[in-house]
Amino acid sequence: MKTIDLLIGALALASASVELSKVKHIEELDEFWAQLHAHLRILRGTKMAPDNRIVNGEEAQPGQFPYQVVIMSYFQDGTGGWCGATLVSQNYVMTAAHCVFRGSAPTHGTVTLGVHNRQVEEETQQRINYDTVNVHPNYSSTNLRNDIATIKMATPAVFNDFVQPIDLPAVSDDRTFAGWTGVISGFGRISDETGSPASDVVMYTSNPIITNADCQSAWNTNLIQAQNICLSGEGGRSVCNGDSGGPLAVRENNRSLQVGIASFVHSSGCASGFPAGFVRVSHFLTWIGQNSDVVLRD
Ligand SMILES: *[C@@H]1O[C@H](CO)[C@@H](O)[C@H](O)[C@H]1NC(C)=O
Ligand SMILES: *[C@@H]1O[C@H](CO)[C@@H](O)[C@H](O)[C@H]1NC(C)=O
Repeated sequence: MKTIDLLIGALALASASVELSKVKHIEELDEFWAQLHAHLRILRGTKMAPDNRIVNGEEAQPGQFPYQVVIMSYFQDGTGGWCGATLVSQNYVMTAAHCVFRGSAPTHGTVTLGVHNRQVEEETQQRINYDTVNVHPNYSSTNLRNDIATIKMATPAVFNDFVQPIDLPAVSDDRTFAGWTGVISGFGRISDETGSPASDVVMYTSNPIITNADCQSAWNTNLIQAQNICLSGEGGRSVCNGDSGGPLAVRENNRSLQVGIASFVHSSGCASGFPAGFVRVSHFLTWIGQNSDVVLRD
């Protein structure tokens, strides 16, 4: 982990793009992986793969996913990592707890909005420091229960064509979204091959959302519970390392609605065809309401 220490030291003055390209994903840190459930891969590649995108997807148009966020977190032990997240209000982003908890919450971090190519300092980008991180109190790193967190930004986002919050389901919305087309996006790894890099640009793909019963029978473990929502892995289209914390969205009335947060994939690989596991947003609406300024819709 010495490499990470050095990089972080050197990065204090570096641009956001350099910072994002050099620091390992949280999921690549060995201690994190050592404690995981055997079936879970949680979007990690081969051990300590250099970098980690959406597998079998395509490049987004700049501004196609104005709710897509990149977060960068630094921890007490000197380690750091980046992940996906979504903009949910002017002051808050939402991500997976496993992105922002390593025994404790990050000491500091940044949220970058309006990113298309993370290696370039684009005019559309807004880079904002963390104010506070709220990790679900019952988050478990061993089996990824309650894998959800919110981050308050130190200054508010400025909304424009490239930076827009995503809608969350209404409190009364009891749809499971099974059978809907789910859209996933992120900067994660594009293939399961060793050494496959993270994507510089936002990638995306889609697949049907499946029922929890179908997901459970594919996984054959008790990991798929009411707090999860699953996306079919057909065509090898899935989330992969580095996509953690990013969105699973559906389109309704010409708007995007976030129904999941990227949490884990099967240990047989991102493109193996196994359904991927997401945090079910509708399951956590009360908690989100209490840990952000999102105004929940009845
Ligand atoms: C966490 O778990 C405890 C014990 O099951 C429960 O009482 C509490 O409501 C949970 N907290 C949240 C925020 O769900
Ligand atoms: C959907 O939104 C796009 C972009 O804002 C717009 O160009 C299009 O006309 C809208 N379609 C409908 C059916 O409202």
